[in-house]
Amino acid sequence: MTNYKLVFAITFAALLSSCGGNKNTSSMTKEEIIEYRVDTLLSQMTLEEKLGQMNQLSFSSIEALQPAIEAGKVGSILNTEDAKTVNALQHIAVEKSRLHIPLLMSRDVIHGFKTIFPIPLGQGATFDPALVQKGARIAAVEASSTGIRWTFSPMVDIARDARWGRMAEGYGEDPYLTSLMGAATVRGYQTADLSDPTAMAACVKHFVGYGAAESGLDYNSTFIPERQLRNVYLPSFKASVDAGALTVMTSFNDNDGVPSTGNTFILKDILRNEWGFNGFVVTDWGSTSGLIVHGFATDAYDAAMKSINAGVDMEMVSGAILANGAKLIDDKRISMGEIDRAVSNILRVKFSLGLFENPYTDETSPSVMYTPDHLKAAKKSAIESAILLKNDGVLPLKKSVKRVLVVGPLADAPYEQMGTWVFDGEKEHTITPLAALKEMYGDRVKVTYMSVLDYSRDRNTSKISAAVSAARRADVILAFVGEESFLSGEAHCLADLNLVGAQKEMLRALGKTATPLVTVVMAGRPLTIGDELAESAAVLYSFHPGTMGGPALAELLMGDASPSGRTPVTFPRMVGQEPIYYARHQVERPANENEVLLYDIPVGSSQTSTGCRSFYLDAGKDALVPFGFGLTYTTFKYGEVHISSSEVGVKDTLTLSTTLTNTGKVAGTEVVQLYVQDCVGSVTRPMKELKRFRRVTLQPGESQKVSFQLPVSDLAYWTYPMVYKVEPGDFKAWISPNSKVGTPISFVVK
Ligand code: GLC
Repeated sequence: MTNYKLVFAITFAALLSSCGGNKNTSSMTKEEIIEYRVDTLLSQMTLEEKLGQMNQLSFSSIEALQPAIEAGKVGSILNTEDAKTVNALQHIAVEKSRLHIPLLMSRDVIHGFKTIFPIPLGQGATFDPALVQKGARIAAVEASSTGIRWTFSPMVDIARDARWGRMAEGYGEDPYLTSLMGAATVRGYQTADLSDPTAMAACVKHFVGYGAAESGLDYNSTFIPERQLRNVYLPSFKASVDAGALTVMTSFNDNDGVPSTGNTFILKDILRNEWGFNGFVVTDWGSTSGLIVHGFATDAYDAAMKSINAGVDMEMVSGAILANGAKLIDDKRISMGEIDRAVSNILRVKFSLGLFENPYTDETSPSVMYTPDHLKAAKKSAIESAILLKNDGVLPLKKSVKRVLVVGPLADAPYEQMGTWVFDGEKEHTITPLAALKEMYGDRVKVTYMSVLDYSRDRNTSKISAAVSAARRADVILAFVGEESFLSGEAHCLADLNLVGAQKEMLRALGKTATPLVTVVMAGRPLTIGDELAESAAVLYSFHPGTMGGPALAELLMGDASPSGRTPVTFPRMVGQEPIYYARHQVERPANENEVLLYDIPVGSSQTSTGCRSFYLDAGKDALVPFGFGLTYTTFKYGEVHISSSEVGVKDTLTLSTTLTNTGKVAGTEVVQLYVQDCVGSVTRPMKELKRFRRVTLQPGESQKVSFQLPVSDLAYWTYPMVYKVEPGDFKAWISPNSKVGTPISFVVK
């Protein structure tokens, strides 16, 4: 037994004997043993040591952190980068502190550690939870090899406003899709065996409602009433907690005036009492002290008190709890019970991860970074995340194409292609579209490259004319445009969603040539690309595809892979339509199909001459691209929808089915979607809600029956008064290719 295990075994035996802890654990379950170990250790801890476990620090240097770790004043460290550093810090905690409690090492591993996958919004576009789970597993294998055993992911904030830069980090606008993706990510990180040294504790964030920041402005207030919170913003967190997430992170926003880090209703009433969550709650960065800035606490003493009493267990870096906890106890402003609750939650996670038995990371094991399997999975994810928004037939590129002009600031931008929230991915490993195209075409095709713009915000139009000339000598133009990675992510909001810099001018000029223009967009959000859709022969949309984005996009463009991505968010025509999403409630004056718009309204029209309905005079009533939309290289026909019964009880299960046929000439993958509308409720209900989806791959001419099982209980929602139940009445269902189209079938819940 290596010395630290011996040290711990002796210490644990001493702990047991010193508090009558010689219980026979042989008949206990794994969970009971963990609780017993938690209680035994807790009974030995001083108040200072308890407060220490509640304290998370950001890595600075081993020397700077050593005194606090030795004194038992640190429970977790974030932002370490290598196993050697982690082990050095861990040796201090395990061998020099009084109780030898290991540290929990953590880092933001948001969409891959070294092998970077598409940003989560892109992974949402795959509508492939199994693939998302695989990506999370790979991220955990890579990150845990450096000693990271806790990551601040998945982010399951529902986001319906593309002005918000953090839309990039979640899985989109829909609670059902986000719930499946969040749960898949938790399973991928944690596996079924938490003590597996490659298991990494998930942290579901940001609890809760952060994506509803007013005006799409990050950190802004939210005003989400309880029913909307429960029906839209909480389900993805509950799905992730039910999947076993070990931790939850509080969000920066105040909702209806109450900052999440001081919000007892969400942290105790819902998370603990309703959901039975027994992991631990960590604040977001400095968010306990942030209560002072919110004007919700007067000082650090007050902020620490409000955080602890609301249900926070661990404070990320602001140190208010460590500094004020003892005085708060003396002043009876917090109880020791609250402290013990928090520390027990933290110790439970540490025991569950096997940190007491295996606190160290093997520094000698061969690297697991960028293995062929990891890169292959990352490429598959990038392929499945790409969304074909338009294709006049130019794609896939024909074998007759011999001269390809590649342009744009994202064609060969290895750093930008990885997208936001990448701390460990290395651009040297990124394969760009230009590199992939050259590799795949070899000398068979002449590939000419002109970036035209040096970066996405570049406003220098001087090279556009040369590109136009070059376009005239090409068989096709492949333009790679979009956003630098910096333009999305935390604190990076935009009030204008048009392509930045001179990208629009470049595309407009190229679109006027006779050479077909294929536009590939890499971005962290949906952009208002109506003009570019009109000017391009084809548009392929890729939410920052990561390390293998180049080969993925090249294979899609050349037909070696077939696009199957679907929009996980609604694309607006104009930014003024934000927030925009398909699951709008049924309003009193819905727009008609053919409203008269701005420039078609006769001069001098009287005020009510075009009616009074819900649409914009300039943007109209529709999105540019609806939720769930995506084309393939083939075509699909949906048969009639069949339903197992047109009248059901709340305990029944409906079967809804249709026959899907590939009516094209090549194989393709369709994402078949099931939507349901609750036509009448005790409150107004969404016009439709996604309830199931399935990826179906068919050969040319092949037909397949696609069936969905839908327990009627899945139609429950938080009603008026606030009760979660299915309300009898009329319903409609669609089985369709996206949220906009399809013929409904009716049924009644008795
Ligand atoms: C940041 C983010 C959060 C992240 C944390 C640690 O401010 O809001 O998502 O996990 O700090 O880096």
